[in-house]
Amino acid sequence: MSGTFKRILYGGDYNPNQWEKSVWKKDMEYFKDARINSATVNVFSWAKIQPSEETYDFSELDEVIDMLSRENYDIVLATSTAALPAWMVKRYPETARTDYEGRHHKFGQRHNACPNSPVYQKYASALAKKLAERYGSNPHIACWHINNEYGGECYCENCEKAFRVWLRKKYQTLEALNKAWNLEFWGHTIYDWDEIVLPNALSEGITSEQTAFAGISIDYKRFNSDSILENFKMERDAIRCFDKETLVTTNLMGTYKGLDYFKWAKEMDIVSWDNYPGYDTPWSYTAMCHDLMRGLKGKPFMLMEQTPSQQNWQPYNSLKRPGQMRAQSYQTLAHGADTIQFFQLRRSVGGCEKFHGAVIAHAGTSDTRVFREVRQLGQELETLSDILGTKNQAEVGIIFDWDNYWALEYTSGPSRELTYVKQIHEYYRYFYDRNLGVDMIPWDGDFSRYKVIAAPVLYMVKEGMKEALEDFVKKGGVLILTFMSGIVGESDNVHLGGYPGPLRDLAGVWVEEIDALAPGQKNETVFSDGTRAECGMLCDLMHLEGAESLADYGKDFYAGSPAVTRNTFGQGAVYYVGTQMEEEGLFKVLDQAVKEGQPAKALQESTGLEITCRQGEKGSFCFLMNFKEEVQSVPECFVGKTDLLTGRTVEPGEEMKKFDVKIVKM
Ligand code: GLA
Ligand code: ZN
Repeated sequence: MSGTFKRILYGGDYNPNQWEKSVWKKDMEYFKDARINSATVNVFSWAKIQPSEETYDFSELDEVIDMLSRENYDIVLATSTAALPAWMVKRYPETARTDYEGRHHKFGQRHNACPNSPVYQKYASALAKKLAERYGSNPHIACWHINNEYGGECYCENCEKAFRVWLRKKYQTLEALNKAWNLEFWGHTIYDWDEIVLPNALSEGITSEQTAFAGISIDYKRFNSDSILENFKMERDAIRCFDKETLVTTNLMGTYKGLDYFKWAKEMDIVSWDNYPGYDTPWSYTAMCHDLMRGLKGKPFMLMEQTPSQQNWQPYNSLKRPGQMRAQSYQTLAHGADTIQFFQLRRSVGGCEKFHGAVIAHAGTSDTRVFREVRQLGQELETLSDILGTKNQAEVGIIFDWDNYWALEYTSGPSRELTYVKQIHEYYRYFYDRNLGVDMIPWDGDFSRYKVIAAPVLYMVKEGMKEALEDFVKKGGVLILTFMSGIVGESDNVHLGGYPGPLRDLAGVWVEEIDALAPGQKNETVFSDGTRAECGMLCDLMHLEGAESLADYGKDFYAGSPAVTRNTFGQGAVYYVGTQMEEEGLFKVLDQAVKEGQPAKALQESTGLEITCRQGEKGSFCFLMNFKEEVQSVPECFVGKTDLLTGRTVEPGEEMKKFDVKIVKM
């Protein structure tokens, strides 16, 4: 189960079950022409392969698997458990979910099973087991795809009972639980485990984003993530009864909030994810998601889904412009993917996704722009298998942490503008624009390979975090911290004694107060060289406790007090950014931090291209991509090298238009 695949998997979700057999035959011809070598099947077929509680019918799936095996596909075989069959919900209403408002659902939709329903668990694992028994020894099965885009929440009675069990295990005593949730506040003290109810709109929840008690709500998030993870493990283990070898995955969703993907990845053989940028998503954001997905295991991942052309579920489902799908695919490979898979291979005739892009559109022909682009990419990927398994090597790490994601966004105050991923992306973008490779890392990972670590809005400092960060800096690392850090512990109770709590020594500052500025209100930061830059949203009012000020506030009653600081700690340094700075100011601070930390860069020259490299035994593969409107010239250091995509030598002064890509082996 080490390594990934023998070739770059190229294909995607394929639903022949929705089509007549005559169409299957044509599909095989089209796909071959496009160099498609992989198909993800059986994603939503539960009702077909188990038409009733007592009967299973694999006859059609047998035919699909036979056909794909004959054609030498790498099959990604899904377990179909992401949408309940109608008969199950009718006979066992408990298999459906109860939503945040407390409404128990009827049959409908997908991703609709209560994770703690014993009936769902029984039939989902039985199905996975049957599939593994039947197909597990087929050498064409390249990967198991459990369920689909796990997510959502359930607030039913089964979940409530399971939550109490989960809490008992975590806290042991009610005293510990009352203390952790600070239930003395509003006199919510619990005297019996059965008094605990799930935090939704009927109880401690206000909206799904707000809560009266973050302690219980964060614990519910952890519990829900764990409950659904148990569903995954259950199917995985069922598969393992018959198939000990084949990789097992489930498709994740980038920065999806609901599941602690670092915890999940430990249970997965390989990470896979679905990349659906909107028409206006910055390329740096997509790159960050890839780096996060790679960071979950620190290994190459699968791109399980992307659309070849457009989506249906965004507000504005723009077409991908000519060359855009190809460039997006190379960005994905550049950041560590070993597969490029689409949703989907043939566009559905009905249902809410009928306008979702596909390799074969409703016209039913390969004579389309989209198909030609898919074919071109397929032809190119066939030549690039040396890239498989190569690694991205970064010396900048950015800490991403789901507990912090949940906790920060539950805080009532100081500003509703504060969101987790946006803050992380601000920092990511700085490194991205300079072609400084980034690993998105967990707080408890191995920091030793990084020269610079950014831990934006590290609001919740859990046990062990302080020590890990101090150790990194002591040994010479450069750490970047920001406002809203070190404030609470693992249950959202404040670390008393002054912000940033356990990070106070490390940062060398004491934050006495936090001002919130309304939209449109601004302060400014004034650097020691006289440069000024606007800032807003939050302004920490702080005292220096060993740190030096890099910039002071320019306005208001705290004008002249420090806004951004640097502290020497052991062999290293800590930058503390106490306010939301405009780009120019923030980048000036980060320039200094990078100058001090000296992380490796893909190249010394500055360029508007994205340049991301993967290293392996056969060399270093540098992906040069132009995501800018303007033409960019190829940096000098690549001149004279061969572009693997064209076989041509890169000439001096060569230019790249928007969406042009080169892969240069160094
Ligand atoms: C998700 C799902 C697919 C499909 C696509 C459409 O990624 O996994 O089944 O619905 O979205 O974009
Ligand atoms: Zn439930």
